[in-house]
Amino acid sequence: MKVAVRRQYGDQDSITIENFPNPIPKEDELLIQVKASTVNRTDCANLTGKPFIMKLMLGYSKPRKIILGTDFAGEVIQTGSQVKSFNPGDRVFGFFDMGLESQAEQVCIKEELVYSIPENIDFALAAAALEGAHYAYSFIHYVAIKPGQSMLINGATGAIGSALLQFARMFDIKIAATCNTKNIELIKSLGADQIIDFTKEDFTQTSEKFDFVFDTVGKSTFGACKPILKEKGIYISSELGPHSQNVLFSLTSRFSKNKKVIFPIPFSLKKTIPYMIDLLEKGKFKPVIDQSFSLDEISAAYKYVLSGQKTGNVIINY
Ligand SMILES: NC(=O)c1ccc[n+]([C@@H]2O[C@H](COP(=O)([O-])OP(=O)(O)OC[C@H]3O[C@@H](n4cnc5c(N)ncnc54)[C@H](OP(=O)(O)O)[C@@H]3O)[C@@H](O)[C@H]2O)c1
Repeated sequence: MKVAVRRQYGDQDSITIENFPNPIPKEDELLIQVKASTVNRTDCANLTGKPFIMKLMLGYSKPRKIILGTDFAGEVIQTGSQVKSFNPGDRVFGFFDMGLESQAEQVCIKEELVYSIPENIDFALAAAALEGAHYAYSFIHYVAIKPGQSMLINGATGAIGSALLQFARMFDIKIAATCNTKNIELIKSLGADQIIDFTKEDFTQTSEKFDFVFDTVGKSTFGACKPILKEKGIYISSELGPHSQNVLFSLTSRFSKNKKVIFPIPFSLKKTIPYMIDLLEKGKFKPVIDQSFSLDEISAAYKYVLSGQKTGNVIINY
């Protein structure tokens, strides 16, 4: 089978496509024919070993897992003897931020990490429903959103932002969202009430105030957003901040009665993936897909995602 491999941390040029023997599932694993995966920002962190904390988790001097990939959507080929819930032919998907070695034509995955794809969803959409949505889930589940409140989403076109906008739209609130000029119609269609084009306007200079400012691309800071937060407003970012200050601010502001920072440590996949499945089945969540690539083109896909300019999700078809 063909796999995407890297043996050292690096950029897209460290990736090679190689032929490996087909994997054999252990007792508690499923052998899956991969049909689609994404190249996402978690994959980029796994590829580059950045931020530095990634190396502490993935292998200090070099990565322990050499095959890339953190998510998959595919079809079960074979099941281990202890697997109870799946059979050959089942359509399945899953995500694990520490790496699944799923950017390969076949992969073995533990049953506990595997979920059934809803019937109405194809493999590409299934793969696109995982990583960004998993992180987006934590933004709205760390806060108590009440009808009539207001939210600003910075970067509502990323994988996290485009999922978050759709999740937030289910609440009766006013949503302002930032995007590039080219994505204004997309953001409108996902439910933003007010659009701020970040190429023309600095959202932190608005005279409006919000109950929540969610910076899903980590391009701003709590300091810059404080003036546009209401008295008890909450700021959440997908990034640590330029000086890794968001973790500290989240601890120091925890007991504050005024403006707060929350650091969105992701919830368990056992909570987030069933939430996405439910919304996919109800037609309330439609993952945004940008470009698709073949496995042979995966270095180009990583290059594009590393540029920070993708819209929604980038797909690899197998
Ligand atoms: N360390 C990790 O493991 C990890 C994992 C996941 C995510 N993250 C972080 O989470 C963030 C979001 O990731 P993502 O996958 O959702 O998206 P992404 O690929 O990082 O961001 C792409 C989006 O950012 C938007 N953007 C670019 N410059 C902007 C600006 N100045 N203001 C507002 N938006 C801007 C672009 O909007 P337009 O398309 O409209 O131009 C594009 O849609 C990233 O910063 C990423 O590093 C980290």
